Amino acid sequence: ANLASGSQVFAANCNACHMGGKNVIMANKTLSKADLAKYLKGFSDDAQAAIAYQVTNGKNAMPAFKGRLTPTQIEDVSAYVLSKAEKGW
Ligand code: HEM
Repeated sequence: ANLASGSQVFAANCNACHMGGKNVIMANKTLSKADLAKYLKGFSDDAQAAIAYQVTNGKNAMPAFKGRLTPTQIEDVSAYVLSKAEKGW
């Protein structure tokens, strides 16, 4: 995965709700590692795949990006989110 591309995809598509790894709609569901581990199904088995699943399919108030982002863009943005979560944003 390409983290530079993922960073650009994040800025263009995710920042509106997740700037700095936060969540402006559901404040408790941030993109911190602890919250990802708590709320994302399968995170402990394959963290990047668990993020990509939610980006692809959406969840509640979060839109699905299937058809709006390519699978490569989804892979890149998921790797970027995981990398930032590992570093504490
Ligand atoms: C949750 C990633 C775009 C709204 C999440 C989570 C991830 C994520 C990994 C799980 C966090 C957790 O449960 O602690 C992304 C990425 C995006 C994106 C990578 C861009 C490609 C957006 C946008 C919105 C949004 C644009 C608002 C319109 C939400 C909401 C949740 C959420 C409301 C909580 C969903 C729930 O569990 O009910 N996001 N997101 N996201 N995101 Fe996004």
